[in-house]
Amino acid sequence: MRWFRLALFAALPAAPVLSVLAWRGHLEVYETVLAWTAVVGLGAPLWLPFAVNVRRLARFAGRLAEGPFEPGPRLLPAPAATDLAGAVQRVQRALEERDRRADDLKAEALRLLDALPDALLVLGRDGRIARANGAARALFGESVRGSPVATVIRHPALLDAIDTVMAGGAAGPVEVDEPGQPKRHFEASVDVLPAASNGGPAILVALRDRTAAKRVEQMRADFVANASHEIRSPLATIVGFIETLRGPARDDGEARERFLGIMAEQGTRMTRLVEDLLSLSRIEMNEHTVPGGHVAVAAVLARVRDALAAEAAAKGMSVTIEAPSDLPSVRGEEPEIEQVVHNLLGNSLKYGHSGSPVALTARHVARPSVGGRWPAGGAVAIAVADRSDGIAREHIPRLTERFYRVDAARSRRLGGTGLGLAIVKHIVNRHRGHLAIESTVGVGSTFTVTLPAA
Ligand SMILES: Nc1ncnc2c1ncn2[C@@H]1O[C@H](COP(=O)(O)OP(=O)(O)O)[C@@H](O)[C@H]1O
Ligand SMILES: [Mg+2]
Repeated sequence: MRWFRLALFAALPAAPVLSVLAWRGHLEVYETVLAWTAVVGLGAPLWLPFAVNVRRLARFAGRLAEGPFEPGPRLLPAPAATDLAGAVQRVQRALEERDRRADDLKAEALRLLDALPDALLVLGRDGRIARANGAARALFGESVRGSPVATVIRHPALLDAIDTVMAGGAAGPVEVDEPGQPKRHFEASVDVLPAASNGGPAILVALRDRTAAKRVEQMRADFVANASHEIRSPLATIVGFIETLRGPARDDGEARERFLGIMAEQGTRMTRLVEDLLSLSRIEMNEHTVPGGHVAVAAVLARVRDALAAEAAAKGMSVTIEAPSDLPSVRGEEPEIEQVVHNLLGNSLKYGHSGSPVALTARHVARPSVGGRWPAGGAVAIAVADRSDGIAREHIPRLTERFYRVDAARSRRLGGTGLGLAIVKHIVNRHRGHLAIESTVGVGSTFTVTLPAA
C-alpha cells in the first residue's frame, strides 16, 4: 500500500499533462489511462532505489541512536550512504578517543589527589563524604565514603566551620588536635568547591598535618625555656652573693672568700653552658655539609685522655687506650671528633665509680651492622666503657635530647650542662656516623660511636 501511494505520488506530475491531452482530444480515455499507468510503472526504477535508501537511512539513524555503531554488513547500497557511514564511524572514533582521554585525565587527577600529603574530603549537600583521598582514608579509615561527616570528624570547631560554609558563609582555618599516640596536629580549611556537578554545593575539607612543624615549634620553645632557666640559676646565685658581700658580709673576710669561690664556680658553669650552646648552634649550622679531612683516631684518644687526666686523677680513675696500629683514619673534622671523645670520656669520669677503670677502644669494622650506608673501607668504632650505676633502660633513648638528664641535680653538681650528648649526636650525624648506647644498671655503660673510614 505504501509503495503504491509512493508510485502514485511519483507519477503525479504526468497526470495534468495527460489530462490536457485527453481533453483536447489527442488521446482516447483508455490511451490516457494506459499512458499514465506506464508512467507509474516505468518511473519506478528511477525513484525506487531512492526511496529504499531513505528507508534504510532512517533505520540506520535509529540504530545509531540506540547505541554504538558497528560497521556490519553493508547497511546502505548507495555510495553516498557508505560515505556517511564512514563519517559517522570517524566521529564515533573521535568521541571514543575523547572519552578515553577524559578517563585518563580523571584517573591521573585522582592519583595526584591520592598522592597529596593533605587529607582531602569532598562533602555533598547532604553532609556525607562523597570523596576521600589517600591521606584522608589513611586518617579516617578506608570506608569513609558515604559516611556522614559528623561521624568521622568529631571536632566541634571544624564541624561548626563546615556548617557555616554549607550555609553560604566563610570559615577561617581551624586548628585540630587529634588525640592518640603520638598526638597529631592539623590545620583544617573548609571551602566551597566551584561548579558542583550534583547541583548542591560540594564542600572541600582539607586537613594539613602540622605535627612535625608543631613539634619543632615546641622543641624550640622548650629549648629557649631550658636554656634561660639554666642561665638564670647561676646568675641568681651570683647576684645574691654580690648583695650579701655588699651588705651583711661586708667585713667578714672568711665568708667573702667562700662566697667568691662559689661565684667563680657559678661563673664557670655559665661559661661552660654558653660554650656548649655555641658549639651546638655551630654544629647545627654545618650539619648538612659533609666534613672533609682525615682524622687519626688513636692520636685523638691519647690527646683527650691527657686533657682529662686531672679529672681522672681526682677520682682515682684510670683510662686505658686500645687501638690497633693499622687502624684506618676516619673521615671528618678533627676538632669535632675530639669533642665527641671528650664529651663521652668526660661523662664516664663524671658518672663512673671512683677508682674504676674507663676503657677507650677503637677498632676497624669492615661491614658495620648499624646505621645506613657505609663506604667501601668500612668504619671505625670508637667505644667508651665505664663502670657505674648504669642508666635505666627508659632513659637511654632520650639521653641525646638537649638538657635531658637522668639526675639533673647530680649532673649540675658535677659541672654538667645537659648538652654533652646532644652535641655528640649532632656531630655524629654530620659525619654520617652512628651512636649506640648500652648500659646495664649496677654494672656500667658503653657509648659506641661508629664513623666512616677515610
Ligand atoms: N657514662 C655515663 N654513665 C651514666 N650516665 C650517663 C653517662 N653519660 C651520660 N649519662 C647521663 O646522660 C645525661 C646526659 O648527658 P650529657 O648530655 O653529657 O649531659 P651532662 O653530662 O652535662 O649532664 C647525664 O646527665 C647522665 O644522666
Ligand atoms: Mg656530659
